[in-house]
Amino acid sequence: MAGFWHTRAMPPEPAPAPPSTIAETVPMIAPSDFAPRLIAWQRAHGRHELPWQAGAGARARPYQVWLSEIMLQQTRVETVIPYFRRFLARFPDLATLAAASEDEVLAHWSGLGYYSRARNLLAAARRIAEAHGGVFPDRFDAILALPGVGRSTAAAIAAFAFGQRRAILDGNVKRVLARVFGIDGWPGERAVENRLWALAESLLPERQVAAYTQGLMDLGATVCARARPRCPDCPFAGRCVAHVEGRQRELPGARPRKTPPERVTAMLVLRRAGEVLLEKRPPTGIWGGLWSLPECAWDADPLAVAADLGYRVANPARELPGFSHAFTHFRLTIRPWLLDVVGIDHAGEPGRFWLSLDDLAGAALPTPARRILAGCGA
Ligand code: ADE
Repeated sequence: MAGFWHTRAMPPEPAPAPPSTIAETVPMIAPSDFAPRLIAWQRAHGRHELPWQAGAGARARPYQVWLSEIMLQQTRVETVIPYFRRFLARFPDLATLAAASEDEVLAHWSGLGYYSRARNLLAAARRIAEAHGGVFPDRFDAILALPGVGRSTAAAIAAFAFGQRRAILDGNVKRVLARVFGIDGWPGERAVENRLWALAESLLPERQVAAYTQGLMDLGATVCARARPRCPDCPFAGRCVAHVEGRQRELPGARPRKTPPERVTAMLVLRRAGEVLLEKRPPTGIWGGLWSLPECAWDADPLAVAADLGYRVANPARELPGFSHAFTHFRLTIRPWLLDVVGIDHAGEPGRFWLSLDDLAGAALPTPARRILAGCGA
């Protein structure tokens, strides 16, 4: 019956306003001032005692950096720290990790979530053992080729572990750049993301890339928070487009809401002597395997449909008020019909049964079918 859910053509959505560009919004901070200010701020106010960080003047070890960056994907620093310590105590180096079983690695990841990260970590350790002689690779494209390492994570590893000049762009950094430089649009959109990458690349300092990168992360996580940013503590206060224009809530832009597509169907309430006819839904799809009201095309003649099913019904059918039911990806608009069965031309069929209206409360019906039956006075 799912075949009756036609998608009705909707009027085209209005074209979105063209996003403004950096040139249009005139950055209030000169791009060449951005890195020196951020580095100075990081030195004074950033985070320096994280367990994967190097001491002053030293370079962090690649294995620790990589492990922390994977754990920090979609997870906050405070959550990661105890996991990082326990993981490192059990798997202190690449060779130990590469020799571990997946079960044990997953056990040490248990509670952190996004377990594909742990599986990728192990796969990457084994790849490094085979392809790189057990030494963490320092070439950017080799880092990027490791399972579970995307462009921004590879750049963070390259910057922290090898001092390379690479731009990061995670969710926090997108927010910082969108606000400071007034980049409109939803960063999940390819064009906006490309613009942010280009900006991130253009802002990279020649030196002190690790402090700069840490500064971006720290600013995004601690000051330039999504909700209630602490603008007075920001090194760009007064020179940030979002701050100056009071647009912190608008930037970065939210994912555009799409109107869900509409499908339409008709549902038939065939009633007879205190009972209504139910039909078993196909095993897959919406309401798979549930009992529901028989359906037909939105514009079908309900008397003819009832006749096809083998029921003679009183003429005319009564149309009940229609309504829409929301699913995750579409809206189903339902046109209910109430039909009084006056005769049955066949002996019944598997997949259909008559439910006593007294048993309605205990029946596992889809919500719209229940709503129709509750409102039709059947
Ligand atoms: N988020 C991602 N990487 C991070 C890091 N190295 N320090 C703090 N927060 C981070």
